[in-house]
Amino acid sequence: MKKKVSVIGAGHVGEVTAFKIAEKELAEEVVLLDIIEDMPIGKGLDMREGGPVGKYDTKIFGTNDYQDTADSDIVVITAGKPRKPGMSRDELVDANFNIVKPVTENVAKHSPNAILIIVSNPLDAMAYTALKVSGFPKNRVVGMAGILDTTRYRTFISMETNVSVESIQALVLGGHGDTMVPIVRYTTISGIPVSHFIPKGRLDEIVKRTAGGGGEIVKYLKTGSAYYAPAQAITEMVESMLKNKNKILPCAAYLEGEYGINGIYFGVPVKLGTNGVEEIIEIDLNDQEKEAIKNSETAVRNVIDILKL
Ligand code: NAI
Ligand code: 2OP
Repeated sequence: MKKKVSVIGAGHVGEVTAFKIAEKELAEEVVLLDIIEDMPIGKGLDMREGGPVGKYDTKIFGTNDYQDTADSDIVVITAGKPRKPGMSRDELVDANFNIVKPVTENVAKHSPNAILIIVSNPLDAMAYTALKVSGFPKNRVVGMAGILDTTRYRTFISMETNVSVESIQALVLGGHGDTMVPIVRYTTISGIPVSHFIPKGRLDEIVKRTAGGGGEIVKYLKTGSAYYAPAQAITEMVESMLKNKNKILPCAAYLEGEYGINGIYFGVPVKLGTNGVEEIIEIDLNDQEKEAIKNSETAVRNVIDILKL
């Protein structure tokens, strides 16, 4: 069946995401939209011209006109400012609310049946914004963060053990900020608990590095934030939905009582399929993990409370 994905924001994250989706031929049509005049048209044409040698037939193009995004199956929202060194994601809330709100209005108007994947930061608050502004059901508005946080955590474990990243299964839950919660107890290397391979003290350091993983990249880039790993994470979500793979992945979902949390977006394991969030999976947590989740919930609520919604 013909599938269409639009990516709003043709900056670092948006352009790499659109290119990856096109290269993998996950959709027949990929549209890249930005507010900057002509820029997305140039990027889209450049990507299309790579098709013959890259061996993809995806009809990818850029635009400044929402009409071109009409009737998308999935819309990825990356429009917004990235943080600079020394800034927290939460400091972006006012600036990015004023971007994500009108973007969502335009997207909802032109693609009323789409699934929205929100990427702009502060992630949990921007996903909440998109849900409220679009009026879409909660299964069709989901935030990307947990896969990114988890892929960093898995990478650090692979670097430590010299085991393939593909053998490492892990889960990072909670808000997309310094309070995120890597669940060490559920981390395995091919089913063997990670504690068999890495001593506790070293694991604690890896957990800390994971929580600061976004900031570590910002420190090196100086003018913006990560985009290669984020684009990989978004692409995995798009693939699971468009191919109805029903992968279980950590994503920001709107909670209504799950994990004892109500009325906010929060990182939890979800099943992603044709309908977006098909299911939210609740796992057992011990007292220490519950306390960390509570702490993260408070951090997310504090930012969402700032929103005028
Ligand atoms: P960037 O600055 O490279 O690109 C942002 C793009 O958005 C720019 O091209 C800009 O012109 C465009 N834009 C701004 N207002 C717009 C509007 N009203 N309509 C359409 N386009 C508009 O930034 P980058 O690195 O691509 O990051 C984008 C956002 O994603 C940031 O807020 C960043 O913090 C967030 N992010 C979130 C991640 C996550 O894990 N959830 C991971 C990486 C980035
Ligand atoms: C990150 O974690 C920017 O939130 C993004 O890299």
